[in-house]
Amino acid sequence: MGTLSVTDVSTHYGTSHILFGVTLEVKAGEIVCLLGRNGAGKTTTIKTIMGLAPASDGTITFNGEQLVGKPPYEIARLGVGYVPDDRLIFPDLTVRENLEIGIKKGIEPDGADWSVNKIYDLFPRLADLDGNLGGYLSGGEQQMLTVGRTLMGNPSLLLLDEPVEGVAPIVVQELGKQIEILKEMGLTILLAEQNIAFATNISDRAYIIETGHIRYEGSIEDLAQQPEVKQKYLMI
Ligand SMILES: Nc1ncnc2c1ncn2[C@@H]1O[C@H](COP(=O)(O)OP(=O)(O)O)[C@@H](O)[C@H]1O
Ligand SMILES: [Mg+2]
Repeated sequence: MGTLSVTDVSTHYGTSHILFGVTLEVKAGEIVCLLGRNGAGKTTTIKTIMGLAPASDGTITFNGEQLVGKPPYEIARLGVGYVPDDRLIFPDLTVRENLEIGIKKGIEPDGADWSVNKIYDLFPRLADLDGNLGGYLSGGEQQMLTVGRTLMGNPSLLLLDEPVEGVAPIVVQELGKQIEILKEMGLTILLAEQNIAFATNISDRAYIIETGHIRYEGSIEDLAQQPEVKQKYLMI
């Protein structure tokens, strides 16, 4: 099962230098959170791993395979699932149709072999909405649908970009439990978050990013005992 290793990665958007030597690791079966304020570089880190924002320097390996230089579809075929922050569901398709779009042919599942029914077991809210159009779902339901669609591609590594942003508190709790179930099923998860309470509740370890630099790396317990670190890099 896969470990993700990001080593000394830099990323530019045009002439803007955004990531500066980012190094982080997610070991097989871990949930690791990448915390940081708005604009710190969380989304860019995830897009760089996915090949959507090409790394200008450094290495990224998953399962020992070099990802830098590969296009996003090849990275997806290696078992990397990406849940973007903008929840691009199809408003005119039903919940079931939105899930079926996530099927990726030719990927050998090395863990769970997802189906619409298995997604409905994980997200009972979606089961109740099976024939409803995506555009009528609440923010939290859309988020579950986005995660479910990505799971339909049978990833072994899940990159989650702010999954609970704008989601009602009760659904935030539900999503937290569901992400923990995914970990129990053997998925490896990198979670970019601004919601510190949510992220630290379900993560094994944390990194903090600020202006494209990793400023902190440690266990959740260790971070809890360092209020000054949180104050400096995470408080608004
Ligand atoms: N497409 C882009 N072109 C130029 N700069 C960008 C682009 N996307 C993001 N940025 C800049 O990169 C920095 C990091 O952004 P981002 O990775 O989205 O941060 P976060 O996800 O932590 O909020 C910000 O300063 C942002 O303005
Ligand atoms: Mg972001």
